[in-house]
Parts: sequence; structure tokens; C-alpha cells
Amino acid sequence: MAETIPDLRAVPKARAYAELKEHSDAILDGISDEVTAMATLSALVHHAFGHLWTGFYRTVIPGQLLRVGPYQGSLGCLEIAFGQGVCGKAAAEITTVIVPDVDKFPGHIACDARSRSEIVVPVLSPKGDLMGVFDIDSDRLDAFGAEDQRGLEQLVSWFATAKK
Ligand code: SME
Repeated sequence: MAETIPDLRAVPKARAYAELKEHSDAILDGISDEVTAMATLSALVHHAFGHLWTGFYRTVIPGQLLRVGPYQGSLGCLEIAFGQGVCGKAAAEITTVIVPDVDKFPGHIACDARSRSEIVVPVLSPKGDLMGVFDIDSDRLDAFGAEDQRGLEQLVSWFATAKK
């Protein structure tokens, strides 16, 4: 496999995400394993943008509990209840949550004290069940906006596409 991770920090976000989607589709061509896809997407997004923490929390008890999955960065908390922190809110409401300043989000769970802003995107299965969430932390304030939401939702749409 000759794919490498591009450095997209200086690339306009819409183009950066389009490039990442092309990359991930090429790498995951013929793959149906969800853990493989989670690991691959975490590595791609984490290193392309130089984030602090990038990874997945998986639904282990629907409507109740998330448990950490493949990720890149420092140690993540192992379990998060639905409704708890940013990840739990995104899971409970099945919606993307953008937090420009984590210190202003009541109940934010600080796995890494350097975290300043965060985005969490729900991950849906082909049946529309909540498989988990994709969580990204930045050491910069206000690092995420609508383009990140669009780009990340596009990337995780891989899980909603039925595989052979
Ligand atoms: N900050 C998250 C917890 C997960 S870690 O950031 C990896 C939250 O409040 O849900």
C-alpha cells in the first residue's frame, strides 16, 4: 500500500476534506470491517490536521453507554454515558456538536488538559442505528466550524453505506 497521510494544515478546509475523502475511499476500497475503518479514519484525520485527539467512541449499550474505540492521541477516557460531556450529548441527540471553547461547556470531560475546542459527529450504520461518535479535540480555541462538520459527516458516511 503506497498511501501516505497528506499534511493538510495549510489547505482550505473544503479542499482538505475532499482530498481526505478520496484518500479514505481509496484505502478502504474492498474493506467492510468497521474497526479497520475507524482506525484508518482516525489516523488520516489526526495527522492531516495535527489535532490533539481524534477517534471513535462506540455504542455498547444503545441509549446508555459509549466505550472508546480506535483513536490517535493521548489516553482517552474509556467509557462515557449518553448525555454526559460533548460525546454523550452528540450520542443522546444524534447530532453533531461543535464546542468552540470547552471551558464554557458545562460537563465537558477533560481527557487531555490541553484541549481547547472540540467537535463530535454521530456515526450511523446502514440501518440508521447510532454506531457511535467521531470525536476530535484541538489545542486551539474555536478550531471547528461548518466546513469541518460537513467534511467529517461526509467521512463517517462510510459507515452508513452498506458493504457486501
Ligand atoms: N471531551 C470529551 C471526552 C472524550 S475526550 O476528549 C477524548 C467529552 O466531553 O465528551
